[in-house]
Amino acid sequence: MLNKIKLWLGLGFILSSLSSQPTRLTYAVEWGLRRVKEGFFKIEALTVHKAYDSRGKETIEAVVSLVNGIVGRAKVPAGASTGGNEAATVPVDVALKNAVAIGERLKKEGISVTAQNLIDDRMREYDGTSDLHNLGGNTIVGISLAIARAGALAKNLSLWKYLSQLAEIEPKLPLFYMNFLNGGKHSKANLEFQETIVIPDPRRKFTPDRWLQMGKDVFKKLGEILEEERTAGRVGYFDERAKFGDERGYAPIFSENIQFPEGITTRTEYTLYLLVKAIEKAGYKIGEDFALAWDVAANTLWERAAEKEKKKPEEYEGGYLFEGEIRSTEWMIDFYKKMVEKYKISSLEDPLSEWDWGPYGRNGWENLTKGIGDKVQLVLDDLTCTNLGLLTEAIKRGVGNAILIKTNQNGTLAGKPGTLAVIKLAKERGYRIVVSHRSGETEDDFIADLAVGVAADGLKTGGLGPQEPMNERLRKYLRVIEIWKEITRLP
Ligand code: PGA
Ligand code: ZN
Repeated sequence: MLNKIKLWLGLGFILSSLSSQPTRLTYAVEWGLRRVKEGFFKIEALTVHKAYDSRGKETIEAVVSLVNGIVGRAKVPAGASTGGNEAATVPVDVALKNAVAIGERLKKEGISVTAQNLIDDRMREYDGTSDLHNLGGNTIVGISLAIARAGALAKNLSLWKYLSQLAEIEPKLPLFYMNFLNGGKHSKANLEFQETIVIPDPRRKFTPDRWLQMGKDVFKKLGEILEEERTAGRVGYFDERAKFGDERGYAPIFSENIQFPEGITTRTEYTLYLLVKAIEKAGYKIGEDFALAWDVAANTLWERAAEKEKKKPEEYEGGYLFEGEIRSTEWMIDFYKKMVEKYKISSLEDPLSEWDWGPYGRNGWENLTKGIGDKVQLVLDDLTCTNLGLLTEAIKRGVGNAILIKTNQNGTLAGKPGTLAVIKLAKERGYRIVVSHRSGETEDDFIADLAVGVAADGLKTGGLGPQEPMNERLRKYLRVIEIWKEITRLP
């Protein structure tokens, strides 16, 4: 190392002597020191080992160590209701092997970890496929995020600040999207819609610690209301452990012969009715303190309808299995229109499936966006899969007005088609940004820093149910609060 230092300083001196600057010694020293410092930012070791997610399933943790002792680490989450065009996932033992090969090549190239774009593009080249199925999107994204953590430490910056500089976006705190009712593929509840979400209303200008407290108040009241429903025989649970779903929201099973209050005809609407009651009981007002949102994850409804008709989802002529009936796209759009008006729903994620638009010879998303796109946020998740090409197509066809961002759907943080490029394009074209967890999460809170760093409008990271065996959802909300304190210099 000493020889290298001498070499860089010497080179710096020669270079500066070529210029006519009188202070060439200072230049030489500065230039040389910079090179030396960057030398310290190179990868010394890259290891990937087995970790576990909140479902108890195996995943990976990537650990990048630098010459100067800095260590950056990241864990990879996993989805259950995955979109058809997500970056590929390879089995954990394959990921471990592939990571060794990636590590060797990155080390050989000797790139500084602060060159995130270059490293991410290199990893895509090593893989050679657009969905990263050779080395695994899970392998690559884990390394990519660990590199970013190391890069932030190397530059002595908080991760959110480092990411904001990398993305060239002015940071901003995201609103909390708290998922209080878990349905679809995330629980045993008989709720077709995957997520029923509460969002603190930004017009109140509350601070994030207050958002979390408001969330806790409502979550508690909702629990009490569901207990009353249970006593009245209207709600049951699969078993005590299944009382909460994968994202730590409630997972009630509504009895079939339930008498709904006047004007309500579906279980799905009944859950909104109960949620509004919980919000009011907690002392808040809908449309003032809170807005409501759904992540329908309509792929699941479409797939279940297609399955009933013994068709492949991409070949199915269309429909959604909703509360026992196959409903048309038009029926669904009409239902959303009514619900948006009645319950002041501010955001609908995946209200229609990824097959219900132009490329599949249909126009569901196009009609939905034309119909209610000016009244409600329409978030693309499974349709776009945080993929630059798919977002470009969605923009071209005028579908949706917001995009969900999941780094492991994309495969890399940065680089030409990376997650940050998707965010930048979306912003340029006026799409709003919601950064999201996966249903199989870990304690890693990278997405909280990402959401702040890219000035996301929302951060979707689950409910506030029991924190065992890990607090993977709450951890992200707490991290935003930490960042807020750092920004505002609060103790
Ligand atoms: P997933 O669900 O992580 O199971 O895909 C989250 C979502 O659909 O947003
Ligand atoms: Zn979703």
